[in-house]
Amino acid sequence: MSSFGCQKADLWYIFDMKILGIESSCDETSASLLEIKESRLQIKSNVVLSQAGEHKKYGGVVPEVAARGHAQAIVPAIARALGSDRPDVIAVTSAPGLITSLQVGLQAAKTLSYAWQIPLVGVNHLEGHLFSWLLNGSDLKLGREFFPAIGLIVSGGHTELLLVKGAGRYSLLGRTRDDAAGEAFDKVAKLLGLGYPGGPAVSRCAEKGRANAIDFPRPMIDSKDFDFSFSGLKTSVTNHFLQMAKTGDLSRESLSDICAGFQAAVIDVLGVKTLKAARQHQAKSVFLGGGVSANEALVNSLAGKLKPRPLYCPERKYTGDNAAMIALAGYLNKRKASRNCWRKLTAQAGLKLA
Ligand code: KG4
Ligand code: ZN
Repeated sequence: MSSFGCQKADLWYIFDMKILGIESSCDETSASLLEIKESRLQIKSNVVLSQAGEHKKYGGVVPEVAARGHAQAIVPAIARALGSDRPDVIAVTSAPGLITSLQVGLQAAKTLSYAWQIPLVGVNHLEGHLFSWLLNGSDLKLGREFFPAIGLIVSGGHTELLLVKGAGRYSLLGRTRDDAAGEAFDKVAKLLGLGYPGGPAVSRCAEKGRANAIDFPRPMIDSKDFDFSFSGLKTSVTNHFLQMAKTGDLSRESLSDICAGFQAAVIDVLGVKTLKAARQHQAKSVFLGGGVSANEALVNSLAGKLKPRPLYCPERKYTGDNAAMIALAGYLNKRKASRNCWRKLTAQAGLKLA
């Protein structure tokens, strides 16, 4: 065992460890092994088995299909991630997500924890996204220079703005009242026939378009709160698209203009609200995470707007769902890990981070 520590009731004080992360909350089955020594990180493996190809034909994730896919992929993913290594701790996504998908990863994690008699910790998927930028480097020390921070999580299921006072200390400032940002990208892609997942397709199409050719609305941009709403924007895109279809103008150029205009509206709203939150809370930094953080235009725009505050965002390979970020969040929550955790940990579809 590479860790040293003492067991105190349910508390484990572990400093060095190999930690196995397991993620199965949506349509990616993932397992990862991190080795942490004196707060320095080494990513030994990060296996991501995506079902995106399977769900493409339905135009979105089908929960039953996803759960079956996880059941098939979970053991091969873990076996590949571990190789001949044995972890000291296991971290598993226990919330939020598709309940039957979460359960596959959770049961695998519980079984290994019980069989190997090693501590287990349940991780909130959103906490994984929030700190996924830490995977870019090797230094895991989260000093006072980062906090308070603003966290912006933009994924297929969530759009949340958080005040982050430290690891584990969050308060929710605002969230979407309807569609998540990624969901809006997916729906627009479906409407325009660009395929699934929609985010990458829309952003590729937007590259050739003019962001100001169509003046799409910026919902709730001036509201006094930090909430978001993207469903009206999606409706506006739909109406515009139908109008164009009527007049027979569905050229590649006009689709690119729609994508660019839609993307600019999403980026604008996210940027204005994040900057407002950062100013109001005198944030020293901003953490960005979630699948939509793969969007280069969003990252560039946010980085510019937030200056001189640093924007921390994950490398592209850690923007989507992956188990390395879950193992990392497990490390941040290591004091909650216990050998008995397998008895009580349950999957929760809708658990909030703050
Ligand atoms: O975090 P994630 O992998 O899964 C969830 O936890 O939901 O996020 C997936 C979402 C999808 O909606 C996908 O369309 C979106 O992230 N996405 C993007 C881009 N790449 C992925 N959205 C905008 N631009 C992108 N380049
Ligand atoms: Zn996610």
